[in-house]
Amino acid sequence: MRRQTVRLHSPAVPGPAMTGEWWRRAVVYQVYIRSFADADGDGVGDIAGIRRHLRYLAQLGVDAIWITPWYPSPMADGGYDVADYCAIDPLFGTLEDADALIRDAHGAGIKVLIDLVPNHTSSRHTWFLEALASPPGSTARARYVFRDGRGAGGAEPPNDWMSGFGGSAWERIMEADDCPGQWYLHLFDKAQPDLNWESTEVRSEFEAILRFWFDRGIDGFRIDVASALVKDTAFPEVPPEPAGGGMPDSHPYFDQEGVHEIYRSWHRIASEYVPERALLGEIHVATAERLARYLRPGELQGAFNFPFMRTPLEATALRRVIDETLRTHASVGATPTWVLGNHDEIRQVTRFGRAYTGIRSRPQDERMPSDPTLGARRARAAIMLVLALPGGAYLYQGEELGLPEVEELPDELRQDPLWNGTGHEIRGRDGCRVPMPWSGEVSPFGYGPHGSTPWLPQPTDWAALTAQAEAADPESMLSLYRVALRIRRSLSALDGGPFGWLPSAAGTLLFARAGGFRCAVNFSGATMMLPSGRSTILASAQIEGDALGSDAAAWFHEAAGQSR
Ligand code: NOJ
Repeated sequence: MRRQTVRLHSPAVPGPAMTGEWWRRAVVYQVYIRSFADADGDGVGDIAGIRRHLRYLAQLGVDAIWITPWYPSPMADGGYDVADYCAIDPLFGTLEDADALIRDAHGAGIKVLIDLVPNHTSSRHTWFLEALASPPGSTARARYVFRDGRGAGGAEPPNDWMSGFGGSAWERIMEADDCPGQWYLHLFDKAQPDLNWESTEVRSEFEAILRFWFDRGIDGFRIDVASALVKDTAFPEVPPEPAGGGMPDSHPYFDQEGVHEIYRSWHRIASEYVPERALLGEIHVATAERLARYLRPGELQGAFNFPFMRTPLEATALRRVIDETLRTHASVGATPTWVLGNHDEIRQVTRFGRAYTGIRSRPQDERMPSDPTLGARRARAAIMLVLALPGGAYLYQGEELGLPEVEELPDELRQDPLWNGTGHEIRGRDGCRVPMPWSGEVSPFGYGPHGSTPWLPQPTDWAALTAQAEAADPESMLSLYRVALRIRRSLSALDGGPFGWLPSAAGTLLFARAGGFRCAVNFSGATMMLPSGRSTILASAQIEGDALGSDAAAWFHEAAGQSR
């Protein structure tokens, strides 16, 4: 039951062109390249596959795409283990394919962001191979974080830092004499050794990498684990989590002061280009104030709003996080962004169908039952909230089709390092990375050529969720996204400008944008009464008279005389 009625009155106001500081209101669509479209039939998505679907993206109405890592990689972490930052993995294509994609995307009015992974390389990067072959104290080792171990014979890791994928964040190597030797830091998988950002060589190499891709015409970078590059060189233990969860105020590798200088230097490079290139950070920090510090003039232009993404669909909590976002971003002149999902999180249709709709930790969240019909209804309301808020938005491929998390993947096909790293305690992120269904009745659903086998199996009932099926259904999730994005682009009220809360019943949100535009969101469990005489622009579910049902949202214009 994905079907809900969409009511549209096409707006007459033309929107401004996306020029200058385009990122301030851009809708960026995340392409998880491995799972987007597989042109050559090897089961893995590729650049040629993205090129084939640029028309789809243009029709959807997004302003930019962010492509997850496409560099040569052993794929220990889906490409976030980069072996060469200035080339393309043959799985995905060639540098010429990348150039052609950038050209075609620009031709279709779509900007291109790529993923930069500066915290760590692959353990197959030539730098790391050189470090392994070089003695302790060498320049080659100084590009990474090598330390002697603690205890007798240095047999204990240098400290108790934990890898994000489970177990110690340190791995011991064998030295040239075949004896166990130093340890290297890996905040993620052991195939992802952390770079040492105290090294001037590391810094200048990444500046060259930025220029390499800017010169090829990309419009910006999404920066992976952007707040973790600089480590406290005293390597103290991580303080305990605060009582209410989250990150301690002072952390030895997240949000160290020194990281800001790196982004100031990158900003200087980005602003040498015309138009200026954008730097968008994946930033995990303790508070919204700390996040805003990355968005000060001369640093990054944007950051993912993870506090918003983690917030349950509950009016008071949403209002609090929206207010905090607006306040802290305004304090540094930055524009907020809004996001509901990505390739690391449980897909929102599944998440929103659960009793707890926010994000806590995977072992807790993965095991809750979910009602997909309720989840889809709520996902429709949530995207209407996102697209009516001031600032930019990020979409993750497949959310526009209402794809659910695929929870029942065969264990032997799971590839996420979280699965093995946690001794199978956490299922991991493969369930939100299942290849896109484009068309037809059977797998590969147009993702790859007929007869090819996607790298993860697609559920048979995805025949109803293909882009082709949904495009033909005016009440589908895809149709809602298309219409909402079209309206967002064309309504000047949604182009920056004022935002203000209006009084509304408990459990609901009502806010105003310019020109009498209103967004009502109802997560109260009861109906919400909308003003009569309004002109409805779009609704995520059927409105009965003036009553908006629960888990639904509506955009409307106040009747003349009611506008504030
Ligand atoms: C964040 C990325 O989104 C995630 O997919 C990856 O595993 C880690 N960074 C490590 O690079």
